[in-house]
Amino acid sequence: MKYRYETFGGIIASDAPPFLAFVDRQYMREQGLADSPLWSGSEEIGVLCAPTEVHLSVTNRCPSGCAHCYMSAGEADEAELSTDAFKEALGALAELGVFHVAMGGGEALAREDLFELAAYAREVGLVPNLTTSGHLMTPEVAERMTVFGQVNVSMDAVDGEPGYRAPSHFGKADAALTMLLSAGVPTGINCVVGRRSFDALPKLFEYCGSKGVNELELLRLKPAGRGGPTYSEEKTTHEQNKRLAPLLETLGNKWQVVAKIDCSFVPMLAYHRPDKEVLYRLATFGCEAGNVLLGGRSNGQISGCSFLDGTCVSVFELKEAWHASEELKRLRGFAATMAEPCASCHYLDICKGGCHAVSAYVTGDISAPDPDCPFVVEFGESAPKAAGPT
Ligand SMILES: C[S@@+](CC[C@H](N)C(=O)[O-])C[C@H]1O[C@@H](n2cnc3c(N)ncnc32)[C@H](O)[C@@H]1O
Ligand code: SF4
Ligand code: SF4
Repeated sequence: MKYRYETFGGIIASDAPPFLAFVDRQYMREQGLADSPLWSGSEEIGVLCAPTEVHLSVTNRCPSGCAHCYMSAGEADEAELSTDAFKEALGALAELGVFHVAMGGGEALAREDLFELAAYAREVGLVPNLTTSGHLMTPEVAERMTVFGQVNVSMDAVDGEPGYRAPSHFGKADAALTMLLSAGVPTGINCVVGRRSFDALPKLFEYCGSKGVNELELLRLKPAGRGGPTYSEEKTTHEQNKRLAPLLETLGNKWQVVAKIDCSFVPMLAYHRPDKEVLYRLATFGCEAGNVLLGGRSNGQISGCSFLDGTCVSVFELKEAWHASEELKRLRGFAATMAEPCASCHYLDICKGGCHAVSAYVTGDISAPDPDCPFVVEFGESAPKAAGPT
């Protein structure tokens, strides 16, 4: 069990079972931990001492060429960090108090030193997780994957159903999942949910249930990289956004699959007016870019999350920049400045105005309400229309 002091109390991380819990000062004391100098002010959860999780693109190299790829992956970045520089970056994150690094790309397995980096992450006390297409998986590679806390294979739909990848992808991803599961690796699936993959969800849940996959992680399609220009035709519709949360509950119960939505889908959950206390207890956060979460590019550049443009902060400057960077402060400040309907929304303190990567791309204003939140759409529909020409 690892812990980190925070102004409100602390964060506790366990490997088995894997969880991260935000706990109050009293709970920390009950664990036999001494009081912290951080505990002199308010107990509100505000700006953390460090992110809990950093999503690290270890390379931009990838042979798959997916049309929706938010990283526009293909060629390696000219300034891709070397093995030593990457280790230094991992050391810097561990020193800050980060718990998890989610390694991805590009295709992380295209980096020959991936296992060396993952082992180093463990050595410095970080839990490395991995997202992969599965295309480079072999039984030997799968055996080595036990260094990761969890490996997620990307699969948006089962064979023959509409997804975001080439038709040959399902067979390769299915084979990779079989190898990982038989090697005893905690394994999940990453599914990109957009207009075309939405109706394929029932069959994907059925597949997860029968395959014995740990977790189905549902990522909202975002307008970034190659996924930008087609976003308006590919994004989930308003009707799908309203149906999402009840559908996931039904399918999760039916197939006994743990389904997790990403931060950008929190508005679609809020639409069903869940109890806020339950959301807090389940640590369901909306946009936590630049606070709970950071993105890191293969050249060491830091962004608020993987879907946002990079900041001018590098991973090596993060210790000083975490509290000082104006760009990071701006990302953390959205909730205080949101326009209606977010300003009066009961869920604003959790949601933070929805996905700001979507707002930035669609409206040109990163601090605008998420244009696809069902509340925001209905608010727009109910607003008095400007008088037309007479
Ligand atoms: C960029 S990929 C890198 C890892 C690996 N190459 C793979 O295919 O899984 C990381 C994850 O982002 C998802 N993804 C790609 N483009 C996306 C987009 N525009 N919006 C949301 N998720 C996206 C992928 O499906 C994958 O699960
Ligand atoms: S902008 Fe915010 S809500 Fe959107 S993906 Fe990034 S952290 Fe999540
Ligand atoms: S109205 Fe704004 S704050 Fe409320 S759920 Fe929608 S995006 Fe989030």
